[in-house]
Amino acid sequence: MTHRPHRPDFRSLDHVTGRLGGIAYGGDYNPEQWPEHVWAEDARLMREAGVNLVTVGVFSWSRIEPRPGTYEWGWLDRVLDLLHAHGIAVDLATPTAAPPPWFSRAHPQSLPETSAGNRLAPGSRQVFCPSSPDYARAADRLVRALAERYADHPAVVLWHVHNEWGNHNALCYCDTSAAAFRGWLRERHGTLEGLNSAWGTDFWSQRYGDWEEILPPRDTPAFGNPSQALDYRRFSSDALLARHRAETALLRELAPGTPVTTNLMGTLEKKVDGFAFAPECDLVSVDHYLTAADPDAHIGLALNADLARGMAGGRPWMLMEHSTSAVNWQPVNLAKQPGQMRRNSLTHLARGADAVMFFQWRQARAGAEKWHSAMLPHGGTSTRTWGEVTSLGDDLRVLAEVRGSTVAAEVALVFDWQAWWALELEARPSVHLRYLDVVRDWYQALWSTGVTCDVVPPGADLSRYRAVLVPSLYLTADEDAEALHTFVRSGGHLAVGCFSGVADVNDHVRLGGHPGAFRDLLGLVVDEYLPLREDEQVALSDGSTARLWAERVEPHGAQTRLRFAEGPDGGPAPGGAAVTRHAYGDGAAWYVATRPGPAVLRDVLAAVCRDAGAGPALAVPPGVEAVRRVKGSRSYLFLVNHGDRDATVVDVHGTGLLDGVRYDGPCTVAAGDVVVVRERGA
Ligand code: GLA
Repeated sequence: MTHRPHRPDFRSLDHVTGRLGGIAYGGDYNPEQWPEHVWAEDARLMREAGVNLVTVGVFSWSRIEPRPGTYEWGWLDRVLDLLHAHGIAVDLATPTAAPPPWFSRAHPQSLPETSAGNRLAPGSRQVFCPSSPDYARAADRLVRALAERYADHPAVVLWHVHNEWGNHNALCYCDTSAAAFRGWLRERHGTLEGLNSAWGTDFWSQRYGDWEEILPPRDTPAFGNPSQALDYRRFSSDALLARHRAETALLRELAPGTPVTTNLMGTLEKKVDGFAFAPECDLVSVDHYLTAADPDAHIGLALNADLARGMAGGRPWMLMEHSTSAVNWQPVNLAKQPGQMRRNSLTHLARGADAVMFFQWRQARAGAEKWHSAMLPHGGTSTRTWGEVTSLGDDLRVLAEVRGSTVAAEVALVFDWQAWWALELEARPSVHLRYLDVVRDWYQALWSTGVTCDVVPPGADLSRYRAVLVPSLYLTADEDAEALHTFVRSGGHLAVGCFSGVADVNDHVRLGGHPGAFRDLLGLVVDEYLPLREDEQVALSDGSTARLWAERVEPHGAQTRLRFAEGPDGGPAPGGAAVTRHAYGDGAAWYVATRPGPAVLRDVLAAVCRDAGAGPALAVPPGVEAVRRVKGSRSYLFLVNHGDRDATVVDVHGTGLLDGVRYDGPCTVAAGDVVVVRERGA
């Protein structure tokens, strides 16, 4: 019998934060980009800023293994020892996201290929085909060597697998990928007959007679097969997941005393199914970057944080990367306003993060990311950013006791990568109905009611929620549709968005009247989907307007709560139902058959929550965010004022951790400020 080393259950972030003695604070550290004399200054300044954890090695393959099979550990030994001597722990990354030039030269067939058949060139990162056996061999050899060397290094408290799986190379269409795709399809569909039926290949004479005829969905003269495109998305995510599993297995075998994570991307990444990756990590970590031009970017941040918590099964999670100020990859890279980074950081914390980490520690002076902000900017310690970084370090030290507490939500919002892929395939009723836009609308409407939600996959256990929101779940598996029926039957309150429940897992339309999966549950039939012109607005019966989408809805038991207006302003279904409510079992199911304005959607979701008995953490003025974290009998109330005016929240009782104030009633949160209260009785 082989001896298997004991491996603790690492799913509690305490395994990391316990060793740090508080909230994890730090960022990506790339010492290989700097002369060695700078490292001592780095370590000293990290201490000054309160940094206790840094991610090392993410892109250092060419430094660690400058020639195939030849390792240079000296510099990395010195970095880890230096950090350890300064009391800074290390999240050690497997540097597999950036294969070095020698690898690409030796294995040109490992370079990824686009759908148009172009090979991508090295000289960047993630320049490899996820299915390349040469890449797999080289990456595994490197991970093995790294794990063997540093398994017992006292600085290393966490393994960081790869970096943002699939950010740049998820979809590869080369011959190697084609062969791997065929293998994956055999597993999924069993027989060619099964595949032909799942892909509906009698359409346009696409029936396959031999597995070898099957290709990835490369560029075609007319529309390709949507079921094939959907399976390719699944396969591509799974191919990366296989790489993630392989690296994780090596780390678990060779360094069983240390938990393993990878930085997922949440809503920022369509191509990788985060809900499939999360259970393969001991700890869930997520990156988030604001869309700087969006005035409501803080709401997108909250969505991503709630999704991170959903991926972590409600447990505390790590914010592995965000930015101190501007990024370098948006059309105009706006700097953060003074105080914005602190608000961003503490909002992540409010929503369950026990780690606040940045890309990156020291701003680069060369390379493609030199105009990306960092904790230590080009200008050094006299900059505004540095001042805010050190004071955030102080805040996080004070907030250490929050670590390990969780966010209790009574509402779930269902999010699904597969529905996202399917909704945005070619040849749909409207290219303007974008999954993330609808999810954002719904999340934002709920956010403005102050009600906190978990963002969960369709298969999640819904029994602990009072209300469930399902924005535009175009593709729905039978069992997931059934779970929503059960939820409502047993007293739950559900709201479903337009164009949901239409297709099965193969992207075949569910027949018998739309929306096939939810017709009975919603108590209606949709006679026809009626997308609107891009700039078109239709009037609703309450005088508001809706955009993008309409439906001709025939209620069969559902009550109409809001109609499209009568006459020409009402669009293509004048006088028809736009929002309905159906009493079903012990609960109720609402349907929103259009994309209403924010106020209407807010009212609808507020009504659903009211019906369900789900309320906000606390009644707060507009622009203020209130979230509560709970640990045993303790509770912490986070109040974040995103507005430019001071705001007063009533009914706050307890001690402000950051300001030391004892609150007993009103609490004024200054414009742009954050108050964290350890609540009384807690
Ligand atoms: C991603 C990557 C980092 C860095 C940042 C820049 O999140 O993981 O390496 O490129 O983007 O925003």
